[in-house]
Amino acid sequence: MSTSMLSVQGLGMQFGGLKALADVTMEVKQGEFVGVIGPNGAGKTTFFHAISGVHVPTSGTVRIDGRELQGRSPDAFCRAGVARTFQTPRIFGDMTVLENVRFAFLFGNQGGDVSLVDKVIGETHLATLRSEVAGALPPARQRQLEIAMALVTAPRLLLLDEVAAGLTEGEVEDVARLIRHLHDSYGLTVVWIEHAVRTLMKTVDRVAVLNFGQLLADGTPAEIAANPKVISAYLGDEVVE
Ligand SMILES: Nc1ncnc2c1ncn2[C@@H]1O[C@H](COP(=O)(O)OP(=O)(O)OP(=O)(O)O)[C@@H](O)[C@H]1O
Ligand SMILES: [Mg+2]
Repeated sequence: MSTSMLSVQGLGMQFGGLKALADVTMEVKQGEFVGVIGPNGAGKTTFFHAISGVHVPTSGTVRIDGRELQGRSPDAFCRAGVARTFQTPRIFGDMTVLENVRFAFLFGNQGGDVSLVDKVIGETHLATLRSEVAGALPPARQRQLEIAMALVTAPRLLLLDEVAAGLTEGEVEDVARLIRHLHDSYGLTVVWIEHAVRTLMKTVDRVAVLNFGQLLADGTPAEIAANPKVISAYLGDEVVE
């Protein structure tokens, strides 16, 4: 039986009178690559916060690899194998690329094999930039660094929040290729929030659509692209192949 890496049931998140998430139920199996799309304010980042320990959800359960973890600390989620990036990059701007990746390794992968630092720097195409100060890197390189910092914790579930935001079309394609490669070569389970729908649809295996805090649809890219509810809520005239 294939196991759920992530199992979310009846997840709700209320901020005062605002329901940022309402009764979201979703399963992500081990090794799946799932995209999450939806309009601004749909609850995508809140969803990540609730499944990585940043927020204590108002209701519902969050299981990581079968273990119930809702309300536990980010550290507990990290130990369970969850790593994530943030919509606004959280890198140390005055440290070098290597120092940033080493820092993430030391705090997120205690007891791990240190050779992973060099391996990950190479695989995220940062080898020639290892001595550069992170804050001076162009946005696309900073996104690669964030991915490297998540990857060096040796996660089983990788959550990516708009790692392609603010990049050129070519850079968006590059980062999508990189994520797909990392998914395939590390055997990762990946959930990727992104507004670059066309690229996302070509890259992922499954797409979940959030709208007003609710799961509007969940299916293959082809099913989602043809779903009238999704077209009217989000895709509009966007051409998705
Ligand atoms: N800490 C908070 N306190 C109050 N309201 C919040 C908080 N965090 C998010 N919200 C609200 O919850 C809703 C969902 O926000 P969220 O950031 O999850 O959306 P999103 O889908 O990630 O949007 P975007 O595509 O713009 O990143 C929004 O209305 C937002 O203003
Ligand atoms: Mg967001």
